[in-house]
Amino acid sequence: MKFVLLIICYLIGSIPTGYLLVKKVKGIDIRTVGSGNVGATNAARILGKWGFAAVFAVDMLKGFIPVWITGMLYPDVVLIAAVLVVLGHTYTVFLNFKGGKGVATAVGVFLALAPIPLGVAAVAFGVVIYISRMVSLSSITAAAVLAASVVLMDTEVSLKIFTVVIAAFVIYKHRTNISRIMKGEESRIEFKRKSS
Ligand code: G3P
Repeated sequence: MKFVLLIICYLIGSIPTGYLLVKKVKGIDIRTVGSGNVGATNAARILGKWGFAAVFAVDMLKGFIPVWITGMLYPDVVLIAAVLVVLGHTYTVFLNFKGGKGVATAVGVFLALAPIPLGVAAVAFGVVIYISRMVSLSSITAAAVLAASVVLMDTEVSLKIFTVVIAAFVIYKHRTNISRIMKGEESRIEFKRKSS
C-alpha cells in the first residue's frame, strides 16, 4: 500500500497543469511560448494573472495534498513522497519527462512540512520581486532562503538534508534563467501603477 501511495504521489506531481490549461483555453502548446516552461509564470504570459493564479494554486495543491496525506498515513516515507511529487512535476511522465521548475509544487510540499521557514522564504520572494520584477530571481532567492531557514530553525536532520537538496534542485532547474539574468535578458513582470 505504501508503495502504491508513493507511485500515486509521483503521478499527481506529474499532472501538467500549465500545459493542460493553456491548451484548453488557447489551443496552444505552452512549451512553444515565452520561456517554454510549463509553470504558472509562463502560463501568465499567455493567460494573464488568472492563469498564474490557477496554475500556481493547482501545482501547489499537487505538492501539499499528497505530502500531507502521506504524512498522516505513513510518516516514515513522507520525505520520499515529497521527493516523488516534486520529481513528478519536473519530470512528468505525461510530457516525455520534461516538466516545470518545481517552485509551486515545492511551495505546497513545504506548506505541509515546514510552514514557518516557507513564510520566511515567501517574504524574501516578495522583497526580490518588488525590487527586480524577475520571478525567476525571486524563486531562486526564496529557495536559498528556505534552505537556510530550515537548516537554522529546524531540528530534524533528514528535513534539513531534504530541503537543501530540493532547494539546490530548484535552483538547478533555473539554469537557463540564471544565464539570462547574467546577460540582462531575463523577462520582468509589470506592476500596474494606480492612475492619479
Ligand atoms: O517558477 C518558475 C519561475 O521561477 C520562472 O519561470 O517561465 O520565467 O522560466 P519562467
